[in-house]
Amino acid sequence: MATKTTIDQLEKQVGDTVTLQGWVYNSRASGKIIFIILRDGTGRCQCVIEKDENTESFFADVKKLAQESALALTGVVSKEERATGGFELKVTDATIVHAAGDYPITPKPHGIEFLMKHRHLWFRSQRQWHILRVRATVIDQIRRFFNDNGFLLMDTPLFAPAAGEGAQTLFQVDYFGDPVFLAQTGQLYLEAACMAHRKVYCFGPTFRAEKSKTRRHLTEFWMVEPEIAFASLSDVIDLSEDLLCSIVDRVLRDHLDDLEALDRNIDELHAIKKPFHRITYTEAADLLRGSKAKALLERDLVEKNARVEELNALIEELDATTKAQGVKQWKKDKAIAEVIDRREERSELEEQIRNIPHHMELAANFEWGSDLGGSDETIISRLHDRPVAVTHYPKRVKAFYMREDRTNDDVVECVDVLAPQGFGEIIGGSAREEDYDRLLRRIGEEKLDRNDYEWYLDLRRFGSVPHGGFGLGVERTVAWICNLKHIRETIPYPRMMGKFYP
Ligand code: 4AD
Ligand code: MG
Repeated sequence: MATKTTIDQLEKQVGDTVTLQGWVYNSRASGKIIFIILRDGTGRCQCVIEKDENTESFFADVKKLAQESALALTGVVSKEERATGGFELKVTDATIVHAAGDYPITPKPHGIEFLMKHRHLWFRSQRQWHILRVRATVIDQIRRFFNDNGFLLMDTPLFAPAAGEGAQTLFQVDYFGDPVFLAQTGQLYLEAACMAHRKVYCFGPTFRAEKSKTRRHLTEFWMVEPEIAFASLSDVIDLSEDLLCSIVDRVLRDHLDDLEALDRNIDELHAIKKPFHRITYTEAADLLRGSKAKALLERDLVEKNARVEELNALIEELDATTKAQGVKQWKKDKAIAEVIDRREERSELEEQIRNIPHHMELAANFEWGSDLGGSDETIISRLHDRPVAVTHYPKRVKAFYMREDRTNDDVVECVDVLAPQGFGEIIGGSAREEDYDRLLRRIGEEKLDRNDYEWYLDLRRFGSVPHGGFGLGVERTVAWICNLKHIRETIPYPRMMGKFYP
């Protein structure tokens, strides 16, 4: 009897006869031999079926199987450097579990709209498989980090009676006739909990009715939020450094293969070490208006234009191949697939090139007092090789609960941690206003209803102490670690404006 196994275990089973259960990722046949790339959820393995007296009973049926058909294959494991995954199964027996119909996602490129509609199938694809593995580890490491460092898990409600962040991004729900909102943050509840348990964290889904379709925004995303009593802003930044370093170290330890498959520059991740850069908002504003930012974008223009020229030539060449006479069909197919990819790359570049002058203008004319926009964050983060903690933003662009700087009350004691390589904000946090009168004034200034926050004001009536914390967005962190252009691939079922299927 062959033992049932999985592809991730094959290195211990060279020479053994085993059974793999999985799906046809790819298959090609020539006469008396079939090559199947089988995927079984743990990896991919090349399986070879030669037509002989052992295999003739199933050979013809297996040969006909379409992509994503399910089957069990039994055979002898050998090491095969050249094969996907490094092992090969020489098949002696096969059982078809399910013969699939025409699978909609083929190896040729598909548009993003199509893939998003087929998300339930799309995440069987190789790239998605790597990304979601990294996501699971990022989440596991976050929990370990806090559990190992004396933080108590505090679950906070998802139905919230009032805004925790900006009122413009609230999702309203009918709660037995009363309006309530889906939680934008657990923070306010966590502040109460840290007065009972000192170091606490919450970790769950959060909701923002973001009316912008950007590569950084989801309407439903996962956020971990620590909160500490007797903490200053600098304690909060220290904690964010330790957390991010521990996540990156863990992913580098356990997921080098995945990162390499995703084409992630590993050296850039190895460079993520304490201390991060710390600059104030005012310094960030100077940086945006300065010569380094200008030079960076000017260089972008030159480089991107050069690449477009290159692509123009390449596309022309490929087009010629697809139309040429006497060229083998497989070569034409390859050229057709390649041309789709290159056209996509070119149209992305052209869009970026169109945007650069606007981004230059925004940066050069950045005015103290306005919030950093997406392109501004990108510039600042690209000018640094490690994460940058940007502190002390103007009060009027930040939330009501942030502590006013006692030396300059135009600014608050807050921090946004920007990931390098242009990824922008992945952490937002602050010291919290612990003074009753100042907090009450801020609630008024932000035109919030004081009645909604009476319980929160109690925290400033009974043993109020300096405290602070931050929120880290899981999806933005995964996008950065995996080097993904768009956040939609970092979560199994992305929710964005206009998108909630499947
Ligand atoms: O900066 P934010 O809004 O901060 C808070 O919610 C605080 N209450 C956290 C705290 O101090 N306890 O959000 C924190 C992080 C951002 O840095 C970002 O990583 C992520 O949450 N985030 C989003 N991720 C995806 N889509 C969105 N629409 C996001 N909005 C915020
Ligand atoms: Mg923020």
